Amino acid sequence: MFILESERLILRPLRPSDVPSMAAWLSDYDVAKNTSRVPHPYSENDAEAFLAMAAGGNHVFAIQRRDDGLFMGCTGLSPSDDNELGYWLGKPFWGQGYATEAAQRLVRFAFDDLRQDRLHAGWFYDNPASGHVLAKLGAHHNGSHMRDCRARGRALLCHDMLLTRADFQQRKAA
Ligand SMILES: CC(C)(COP(=O)(O)OP(=O)(O)OC[C@H]1O[C@@H](n2cnc3c(N)ncnc32)[C@H](O)[C@@H]1OP(=O)(O)O)[C@@H](O)C(=O)NCCC(=O)NCCS
Repeated sequence: MFILESERLILRPLRPSDVPSMAAWLSDYDVAKNTSRVPHPYSENDAEAFLAMAAGGNHVFAIQRRDDGLFMGCTGLSPSDDNELGYWLGKPFWGQGYATEAAQRLVRFAFDDLRQDRLHAGWFYDNPASGHVLAKLGAHHNGSHMRDCRARGRALLCHDMLLTRADFQQRKAA
């Protein structure tokens, strides 16, 4: 079990007490529609099922704000999906650099501690903020494809981004 820290955040395992907040943030369609797997509407049962899944070996972390302990969202790496990186934040927390900070910390963990060499992540064509987060990490566009979006009930164009250890180190040094 890992706990990762950054300037403003603590990335820690999910807890049952996160369920109400998770359901509150993810039941917002504007959050769910930008993810591939989050259903809409979203209930506490969905959050509980996610917690049970996350306990099964995926590297899923709650994004907790350091100063007040608030649960703001999740980030994770899915080894079964070729090391796919994912993240989401409740809407009140958007636009403050938290996703970039969380993803940077998780990527450092993946490269330094898990000794991975490459990660990937996808963003839907109409969610440029996520594309921008990935570009800030040093990721590069690596093809596009149609991908199912559960909340919208249809497939959308998804841009895949590849992040190698070298890209990340170069970006950190810049
Ligand atoms: C995408 C998401 C994680 C971004 O979180 P965030 O904490 O607001 O992201 P950050 O503040 O770290 O960075 C966002 C960047 O995108 C930029 N941005 C925001 N809206 C944008 C837009 N419409 N077009 C281009 N860039 C945009 C911001 O200016 C910022 O870049 P900057 O730091 O250079 O100014 C958040 O909006 C979210 O959870 N959305 C719903 C779920 C989701 O999309 N998850 C990702 C699935 S791939």
